[in-house]
Amino acid sequence: MSAPLTYLQDHQGRFQEELFDFLRIPSISADPDYTDNVQDAARFVANQLENAGLHNVTIEQTDGHPIVLGEHLEAGPDKPVILIYGHYDVQPPDPLEQWSSPPFEPVIRDGKVYARGASDDKGQAFTHIKSVESYLKTNTPLPVNVKFIIEGEEEIGSPNLVPFLKKHKERLACDMVLVSDTAMFAKDTPSITYGLRGLTYLEVEVTGPNRDLHSGVYGGGVQNPVNALCEMIAKLKDETGIVQVPGFYDAVRPLSEKERKAYAALPFDQDAYNSQLEIPEAFGESGYSTLERVSGRPSLDVNGIWGGYQGKGAKTVLPAKAYAKISARLVPDQEPIEIFKKIESYLHQIAPPGVSIHVTEHHGGHAVLVDLDFYGLKAAAAAFKEVYQKEVLFAREGGSIPIVADFSKTLGATTILMGFGLNTDSIHSPNEHFHLADFERGMLTSARFFDLVESYRKDES
Ligand code: BES
Ligand code: MN
Ligand code: MN
Repeated sequence: MSAPLTYLQDHQGRFQEELFDFLRIPSISADPDYTDNVQDAARFVANQLENAGLHNVTIEQTDGHPIVLGEHLEAGPDKPVILIYGHYDVQPPDPLEQWSSPPFEPVIRDGKVYARGASDDKGQAFTHIKSVESYLKTNTPLPVNVKFIIEGEEEIGSPNLVPFLKKHKERLACDMVLVSDTAMFAKDTPSITYGLRGLTYLEVEVTGPNRDLHSGVYGGGVQNPVNALCEMIAKLKDETGIVQVPGFYDAVRPLSEKERKAYAALPFDQDAYNSQLEIPEAFGESGYSTLERVSGRPSLDVNGIWGGYQGKGAKTVLPAKAYAKISARLVPDQEPIEIFKKIESYLHQIAPPGVSIHVTEHHGGHAVLVDLDFYGLKAAAAAFKEVYQKEVLFAREGGSIPIVADFSKTLGATTILMGFGLNTDSIHSPNEHFHLADFERGMLTSARFFDLVESYRKDES
């Protein structure tokens, strides 16, 4: 076995301890109360990169949370340059009472590390830092040039990364981007994600009377904003799951026969899916399978809805306001802004009499589809296969990493989505975890990938 691989296997204990230190930092990007912690996490990443032996490690301050850079460009100008992207920010941990152990006190149970960010994305991003470290600490020439870009705003839509990319195009120039921030198709099943959905996120505020009213004195005489909002939400989809927003499907790139066959060939177990989620049956757009619905077709969901009395007991009140947060997951070639406008005007059109509505836009992002013929993807699959000793699956996923579309647009680079997580890791949920076996196999896969990628480029030319 090569020196880097031996190094990786021999130091798993220390890597776990270092990951634990990383996971103890509550780097919640969405909550301004945690701004200092986010800075701490950026410094932690920068130290890791420095200690691994990377050069020009910097913490780039932005109008929001910082971006951490580092590089090692000694493989030579004829060797590929790989830009490694990840994020050190995490989602808020609530609801706290549903965690079996505190979210920022990592613990190991059943071979998994439990903590917010364990899988999304601290644990996954860490694999590449350790992989590079394994070359540099064993004095083994790193076979590729690498640049790291680890950001602190992914979970809030990367508002400062897009302008940063544009401004530092030359500094970030690369042959491909490597990202581990997705899931494998199933446990012990190495997978390359070749598609991600885009996103449009909006909020609607429904306003009725100028104050909360006595529901006996006024009930029946005034439009109730919560009822009105429910009526509107009920009109977003029909009972077969088809979105009713005019034009919503206009730009959708249809699934080809070839692709539908590929979907059908994936080893998906609908019964296991249902029982894992404890649902009586799956539901979605009629005419499509579950896998197609959650990654190849757009979707529309209410993420939260509130208004009126939420406390204990009963309070007879007719609320003045009602709110909902609504998101659409998009597929190629749906434009996030266009879809926002379509939903906004539909909401205005279906708003019942007696209320006014106001719609605001949150962050969005474009869907991506990666060219399956790209040599980097083939090298990644070969590395995966060596380490997991299993055939690699290619699958689209339903989540979003908006910056991936910008890597292609701004840097002209294809992104390899080399996920080591699992859909059952409970990312964004209580009890997020990451399998330590995948933490280790992730590092090994990354190290093998660096070794293999150049030969796949040669094959191609
Ligand atoms: N790592 C996820 C995206 C993801 C998860 C892709 C699982 C595929 C499988 C990322 O951190 C994330 O949560 N993205 C957000 C989008 C962002 C704009 C808030 C998402 O998908 O909701
Ligand atoms: Mn992520
Ligand atoms: Mn996330």
